[in-house]
Amino acid sequence: MSADQNNNLSAGQSGASDESLQQVHAELVAKKPEPKEGFKTMPLFLLGFVSTMIFVTSVYVVHYRAGFSPTVYDQRFDPKTAAGTGAKELTPEQVIAAGKKSYQQVCAACHQNTGLGVAGVYPPLAGSEQVLGKEEALIRILLHGLNGPIVVKGNTYNGAMPAFGKVPGGGYNWNEEKISQVLTYIRQEWGNSAPVVTKEKVKEILAAEKARSKPWTDAELKPFE
Ligand code: HEC
Repeated sequence: MSADQNNNLSAGQSGASDESLQQVHAELVAKKPEPKEGFKTMPLFLLGFVSTMIFVTSVYVVHYRAGFSPTVYDQRFDPKTAAGTGAKELTPEQVIAAGKKSYQQVCAACHQNTGLGVAGVYPPLAGSEQVLGKEEALIRILLHGLNGPIVVKGNTYNGAMPAFGKVPGGGYNWNEEKISQVLTYIRQEWGNSAPVVTKEKVKEILAAEKARSKPWTDAELKPFE
């Protein structure tokens, strides 16, 4: 667009007179309602509706609060399993897996992952008479520990096996289930083949030896072997 055309255009637009413009403006302004100051009161029906809703919800909450217990409406919550009565039993594979984990975390430091122990210091568990023998003696070794000379697979050891049970002076405080799992594991690993140890049996022996607070000696275990 040239400069000339531009000038012509603006000249044409300014054709309306000042008066006519003011008149149109005045008409437009007159049509608009005057803005009012201050607030309008809430319509009564709305006030009534909101108050009714607040009242109804309060009644509802009070009626269905169920003591605000978090479990009442939780469909995933099953009181039977939560109470421990119907707690799921582990499968034999899960028991072995749990026992293996505990073994590798703690026992393997001395008895080794191979179950072969360390010559002259830590006795082997693979093929050991104590591991494969009567559970009455084996459980006692785990619960309270073992001190003094002991013969395993023809070699004599004279060290200290720590206590793992919830016994006076015991450091590990493993529960009965954990002990039963690790014992089941060592009885069925490395070619070992002896029956599982149940947590009920561990409980029974723990109860029978409640008063004991020191490790066993080989001689003391003889009656249980
Ligand atoms: C700090 C080292 C150490 C740890 C950890 C340890 N033991 Fe022992 N354990 C020994 C010693 C030492 C003996 C031999 C005690 C003796 O000479 O009277 C022994 C003996 C045993 C025996 C009897 C002898 C045999 O070889 O069969 C069993 C069974 C046994 N331990 C199982 C375990 C299990 C299962 C664990 C893990 C829960 C474990 N031990 C953790 C050091 C340890």
